[in-house]
Amino acid sequence: MSHETSTAPEQATRTEIPATHPAPVIAVSGLSKRYDSGFEALKRIDLEIQRGEIFALLGPNGAGKTTLISIICGLVNASAGSVLIDGHDNVSDYRAARAKIGLVPQELTSDAFENVWNTVRFSRGLFGRKPDKAHIEQVLKALSLWDKRKNKLITLSGGMKRRVLIAKALAHEPEILFLDEPTAGVDVELRRDMWEVVRELRSSGVTIILTTHYIEEAEEMADRIGVINRGEIVLVREKAALMRQLGSKQLTLQLQKPLASVPPALARYPLSLADDGNVLVYTYDSHDTDSGDRVAISTLLNEIEAAGIRFKDLHTKQSSLEEIFVNLVRERQ
Ligand SMILES: Nc1ncnc2c1ncn2[C@@H]1O[C@H](COP(=O)(O)OP(=O)(O)OP(=O)(O)O)[C@@H](O)[C@H]1O
Ligand SMILES: [Mg+2]
Repeated sequence: MSHETSTAPEQATRTEIPATHPAPVIAVSGLSKRYDSGFEALKRIDLEIQRGEIFALLGPNGAGKTTLISIICGLVNASAGSVLIDGHDNVSDYRAARAKIGLVPQELTSDAFENVWNTVRFSRGLFGRKPDKAHIEQVLKALSLWDKRKNKLITLSGGMKRRVLIAKALAHEPEILFLDEPTAGVDVELRRDMWEVVRELRSSGVTIILTTHYIEEAEEMADRIGVINRGEIVLVREKAALMRQLGSKQLTLQLQKPLASVPPALARYPLSLADDGNVLVYTYDSHDTDSGDRVAISTLLNEIEAAGIRFKDLHTKQSSLEEIFVNLVRERQ
């Protein structure tokens, strides 16, 4: 977990998203899906995506991520509910809705013997867009595929094939890009490259919705995070708010003798007793600077000693997105 990775420029971009969101670019309401098998994959999902944000849909295998984005993109029919894409109903106004969307699918199904250039050019044509060599060139260059444009797909590495999928999804200049598990199974370096590509797309104004089961990916990339589990959205929150909530740290002292209550001399600290008075817990904000932490904790430890309290062990613990995620997912099982 790397909390330092949200850089200043990113913060600046995030604040550009209006605090009061006027019209969401995607509005999902009451969406349910029961597959023919009878399995209920989505249960009355309500979700709004804001223009220009990166939204990460985080959930374990089988949670319903692919089902949800397949319905939004019009590839799978919903059993109930509706989806508006920039005001266009994705069923009754399918063509207008679909033209706004690019989808990078989870599965790598591609025409193995076609070359990169033709594959991407063809994808643009599918949306009835006029040929535009300059656009295709720009997309391929942005994805570092320009040198490979004459290669057959079968000759590319897995990571390059994934980029071709992104290029295909961008060929018709969509305003909204869905990436279904963009970095599943790719190495660390390529993952960082993909993140960079996604950031660049966002700064060019594209709204991004990505699904992932990597907490680190959601943490690294998203402006907002939605957690989905067993067909239900169990949490939607601004990442910054989530990280602030996660910033609390606990210092736990294992006492030599149990205490009946926290001594009045220590009343100004947020201390509490646990385990029948055998454990003293101090909760503090880890977002304070390191030196700030150290001073506060060493002062606290001195005062604890001065109050005559002896401890045999101490440790610190930081709650993490992973912990919250695991708890959310576990609660519902
Ligand atoms: N065509 C189908 N028929 C019946 N059940 C299906 C079908 N497609 C998906 N499901 C079921 O719906 C649930 C959600 O599947 P989905 O592919 O949306 O999950 P996911 O969150 O994308 O998972 P993963 O992380 O593995 O990609 C799963 O239990 C899956 O078995
Ligand atoms: Mg999936």
